[in-house]
Amino acid sequence: MTGGKRQKIRFQRPASGGDRTPSPQAEAGTYFDVRPALLPGRLEGLHVLTKPGVRGCPEVDAAQALLATTMRKDRVRGDVLDLTAMGGLLAALPGVTLRAVEGSAPALSVLRAAGLDPLAAVPGDDLKERWPERAKTVALVLAGDRGNACALAQVAWAHACTPPGGTLYLAGDRDKGYDRYVRAAGKAFGTGETIARDEGMRVARLVRRPGPTPAYPEPERWEGFGVRVVGLPGVFSAGRPDKATAILLGALEGLDLAGKRVLDLGCGTGLIGAWAASRGAEVTLVDGDLQSVRSAAATLSENGLPGEVVHSDVDAELGERTFDAILTNPPFHVGRGVVLDVAREFIAAARRRLRPGGTLYLVANEPLPYETPLRAVGEVRELVREGGFKVLTTTRAG
Ligand SMILES: C[S@@+](CC[C@H](N)C(=O)[O-])C[C@H]1O[C@@H](n2cnc3c(N)ncnc32)[C@H](O)[C@@H]1O
Repeated sequence: MTGGKRQKIRFQRPASGGDRTPSPQAEAGTYFDVRPALLPGRLEGLHVLTKPGVRGCPEVDAAQALLATTMRKDRVRGDVLDLTAMGGLLAALPGVTLRAVEGSAPALSVLRAAGLDPLAAVPGDDLKERWPERAKTVALVLAGDRGNACALAQVAWAHACTPPGGTLYLAGDRDKGYDRYVRAAGKAFGTGETIARDEGMRVARLVRRPGPTPAYPEPERWEGFGVRVVGLPGVFSAGRPDKATAILLGALEGLDLAGKRVLDLGCGTGLIGAWAASRGAEVTLVDGDLQSVRSAAATLSENGLPGEVVHSDVDAELGERTFDAILTNPPFHVGRGVVLDVAREFIAAARRRLRPGGTLYLVANEPLPYETPLRAVGEVRELVREGGFKVLTTTRAG
């Protein structure tokens, strides 16, 4: 199958410019390394860590940078609950003791490297067990790029975590629904206004008055490829199958997976892994995003399918596991820009995790340059080219 219109994909350049395409071997050696983040001028002097896969890397996330600047100006001190801690920037503010909460496995590894003892949690989780007393100051960066349900779940969670009389600093991007979410937060908190602006970034300060916490959005539920899917707020393609994923599963229709050890790398809702399990494969589903891990576990359970779901930055938590097949629709966004570091590490992980004779099946937007790193695994074949996507496959030499 051929055809489909060409897609324009804008690649994010590193701050220093130049070519950012290291060999897969070189990158496999550096992907997991934690490094100092590049900070905007107004935050110079602070020390913050990052790594590929963390929002904003190699810099800090722009909304979080404005949040830190604003909180420093407000002379915030003492315990601060940061529900989107990323690399832990707020811990660098003078006098702040950070309670770092994150759902991203790459960010959690950075927070641990910084000695911050983070909590892995998602919107809706009760934090009382870890911190019986609520902190008087709470901070959150809206993930408007992950959809309306995700941002509304974040607002409800921030409300539940802020004690009456406590203050929420809410940051976001004007182009990703910030005004709408601040209005929703203002309604729940009873007060609040935008106090800082920097280009498209905004920060609001809200003081919580007594009142009920807004309801959390319900998970999406739909059926596709014989699988009943549970899509939690913020999970990739939570409400319907992704076009690329559908093309991948269509291309694999005739594949015999019975009894095979299969890895769904970057599982999201778990559609691909559950589909493989329904065909008799012994499946492992991995995602770096904790909400996706919960979603994938719910999808397996909804279908009564066996399988393990692992919260992991690429294959970092997979121990000695190896596979006969790896199926993936790799990510190429981390926050706002197009970043291929994670996708390239998915391919490097395939090299580490495929048994001899094992095969990687990968779907990608046509312009994405995955063929070169894939050649380090084995000979590359294109199974399908359709609707602007391609399905590539490579088998590790026996
Ligand atoms: C394009 S989505 C595909 C989701 C799902 N497989 C599907 O087809 O609908 C890519 C997935 O990779 C996950 N991901 C991003 N960075 C990751 C990382 N560092 N380690 C593991 N998974 C990651 C994302 O959370 C997302 O669920």
